[in-house]
Amino acid sequence: AFSDIPLGAADPILGLNEAFKQSTSPEKVNVGVGAYRDEEGKPHKLDCVREAQRRILERDLDLEYTGIAGIPEFVSHAIAFAYGNDSPVLREDRVAAVQSLSGTGALRVASEFIARFRGAGTPIYVPNKTWGNHIPIAENAGLSVKRYRYYSEGTCGLDFEGLVEDLRAMPEQSVVLLHACAHNPTGVDPTEEQWDQVLAVVQERDHTVLFDSAYQGFASGDADADAFAIRLFAAAGVDMLLCQSFAKNFGLYGERVGALSVVCQSPEEVEHVLSQLKLVIRPMYSSPPISGARIVTEVLGDAALRAKWYAECKGMATRISAARVRLREEVERLGTDRDWSHITSQIGMFCFTGLTPEQCDRMVSDHAVFMTRDGRISMAGVTQANAPRIAAALHDVTCR
Ligand code: LMR
Repeated sequence: AFSDIPLGAADPILGLNEAFKQSTSPEKVNVGVGAYRDEEGKPHKLDCVREAQRRILERDLDLEYTGIAGIPEFVSHAIAFAYGNDSPVLREDRVAAVQSLSGTGALRVASEFIARFRGAGTPIYVPNKTWGNHIPIAENAGLSVKRYRYYSEGTCGLDFEGLVEDLRAMPEQSVVLLHACAHNPTGVDPTEEQWDQVLAVVQERDHTVLFDSAYQGFASGDADADAFAIRLFAAAGVDMLLCQSFAKNFGLYGERVGALSVVCQSPEEVEHVLSQLKLVIRPMYSSPPISGARIVTEVLGDAALRAKWYAECKGMATRISAARVRLREEVERLGTDRDWSHITSQIGMFCFTGLTPEQCDRMVSDHAVFMTRDGRISMAGVTQANAPRIAAALHDVTCR
């Protein structure tokens, strides 16, 4: 009965993990998926997370279902983390929020919610470039994906004029997806002054913003500074939804811990939105898992562990910055005409190299450097030890 089912394509990002595992090259390097690695290239568990797990285990808590919206204490901590403790929208009880299956789950529930209340086929405008999974998430929920200008291939930086022009040219009240910080895959963010201007256009056109915040803490090393755009838009009264992931900043990848929040105009509106989010979630996965959310609650709810988290997150961001400097030095040392300055000017977890898909294929086939075909390198997988090898591969595929 299943004989006519065609073979599906491997995921452009997660499929690389499989290819990496299968590679027999002794020198193979995985800079595909955005997952932090330590200086030895190993997955990294945060000490604050280890301590939180120890405390939670000691309490021998029950393993009952959460409510459909997840663990209330977690949700409160998650939104305070994003919007800020002194946020007007939190003070005024204007945020409807639920726990989610990390950022992807938040995006999917948000997209279903938009499709339900704006209608199937509603356009969602995503940046050109964006995280590959944004497109099927939105389409599978029934939205129609359109793009706005964002990344300039010429400068490997932001096409700010194009961005503003496109925001202005969209129909009023469009749904616009913005990356809150540490844009994936380009590593290119607007400056604070540019965010102010983006906000002005969004307000002028009365757009609804869907923020994807998967790297809070990874752009600057300071989670509060990285929430600049979120807090700016929330304080300005923009209609917005926010998808948060705690995968990278807390190193809780497989725990699938995240949150979706919707900024409303009144507490009554919150009640209605929340009731509808629950109606989306219940038939989809019933209720979220508890373990990762308990960890984040413990860390953010305890002053000492919270301080430890800030320090550890900064440590990860600092190591990545050092890896950027090293990779750029190494590749420049090999002496090409190509400008590699974007390696250090881009921020967050990724470096967008500008390599063609064919050059990316050669990075994998000739050098066992596993990177995605869009030219993205996960800087989190670059170390002082493997930087020379990656640099040599970059040099080779761009010079021949
Ligand atoms: C990435 O872009 O590599 C990460 O967000 C992981 C993923 O799920 O794709």
